[in-house]
Amino acid sequence: MATGENERVKEPMLPQRSPNAVRCCKIIAEFIVILIVCGILSLGLSVIIWTVYDNVVSPDVTNTTVEPLETTSITTTTMPTTTTKPLACQKRIIGFFNAFDAKEITAARVSKLTHAVFAKIPMDYNGELGIKTQETDEAFEKFKSTAKGVETDVKVMISICGKTSYREIAQKTEYTRIFVNSVASFLENHLIDGVDMNWERENYHNNINLLKELRIRLNGSQLISVTLPSPPNSGATFQVDEILKYADFVNVVSMGYYDTDRTRTGPISPLYSGFDGWKKLDVNATMKYFNKEVKISEKLNIVIPFFTRIWSNAIDVVEPGREMFRDAQNEFSQVPFSKMKEDGWTEHKTSWDKKSKSSYIYDSETKTFLTFENEESISWKLQFIREENLGGLWIRFMDMDDDENTLLNSVTKLC
Ligand SMILES: *[C@@H]1O[C@H](CO)[C@@H](O)[C@H](O)[C@H]1NC(C)=O
Ligand SMILES: *[C@@H]1O[C@H](CO)[C@@H](O)[C@H](O)[C@H]1NC(C)=O
Ligand SMILES: *[C@@H]1O[C@H](CO)[C@@H](O)[C@H](O)[C@H]1NC(C)=O
Repeated sequence: MATGENERVKEPMLPQRSPNAVRCCKIIAEFIVILIVCGILSLGLSVIIWTVYDNVVSPDVTNTTVEPLETTSITTTTMPTTTTKPLACQKRIIGFFNAFDAKEITAARVSKLTHAVFAKIPMDYNGELGIKTQETDEAFEKFKSTAKGVETDVKVMISICGKTSYREIAQKTEYTRIFVNSVASFLENHLIDGVDMNWERENYHNNINLLKELRIRLNGSQLISVTLPSPPNSGATFQVDEILKYADFVNVVSMGYYDTDRTRTGPISPLYSGFDGWKKLDVNATMKYFNKEVKISEKLNIVIPFFTRIWSNAIDVVEPGREMFRDAQNEFSQVPFSKMKEDGWTEHKTSWDKKSKSSYIYDSETKTFLTFENEESISWKLQFIREENLGGLWIRFMDMDDDENTLLNSVTKLC
């Protein structure tokens, strides 16, 4: 599933006025019809918006009753010291579970992780968390009981899906307080160990204050992670060392480097260089950049995508000898690894791009091109994590693996 797309919400078209004179009651009748149509449309649109991760729309705040603020000032300067329990292998294996498919949340999967994250708990315009649909509620209950039921020591976390951006919350003191208190009580009520904030499409320096307030509000054993885009192409200018004063670790979106050019095939998360035009857009360059900023490499995790990208009409190679980079006429689509397997693609011969350490399939008959992670590409990334002394990896998303957990089993070789 495409998580990085900007969905545009179109304004509903209103019917044209008749040039003829109309009677008053007819106008009223029309007006009522328009109201009903708009109501249905806005309901439909809100459902669409709901499904888009961290979609940014202008706030439309219904003034919900705000709980009286706590008597203690939340802008105290004493910071609780976070103690993240060292893992058996000292590395993190963080699995993000997509709430759309509750049946994919299994104990076998959770028990292979150090952190299980439920994506996503909805957040209202004013920063208040709350599950709104029965489907999400059922998935979350399944997630909680499964994750807490495993015998391994897995940290159970949530990730938040905002109706608005974190920027909106950070800009208003009132919303910041609501958000911080809402997260704290959510974690407490559901006995959850921590929270992830997705700042993939955020670039607002005051978000740091929001993070700081949250750190102060939560207790020392509750975890905070932040998901950040990869510079330089994202344009994000966050001070990662500042973030890590308050967050326990950072999940880097070390993928999708070439997403702006959808008419060219290429790896989703290349460890090393792309072709000439795309130098320095790879996991190595990203993590070298982050490392220079933070000097605490153990707090950084790279991503392992569990989805496959497919281009149709992939034709000429862009650079001789690099079969992976081709001009394609159609945009890519994304399917889970499990779907790619179901469709029989894993029966095809898989090719390997030595320079970027990525796997792909090119079917010259149908001119279809697929790229994905497999055991080989993952093992290179695991080696990179060890060599660079990174904290570990995060998986997007767990439910995209096949029933045999092929990708997850490759990933767990980290320990
Ligand atoms: C929301 O309610 C508070 C308290 O009643 C009030 O001060 C504030 O102006 C209201 N905000 C909006 C947007 O109506
Ligand atoms: C921190 O909060 C969690 C609830 O999320 C609770 O289980 C834990 O006991 C608290 N720890 C401390 C040290 O208060
Ligand atoms: C990894 O990145 C560093 C810094 O950008 C660079 O010097 C090095 O050559 C890269 N390694 C490979 C194998 O491309």
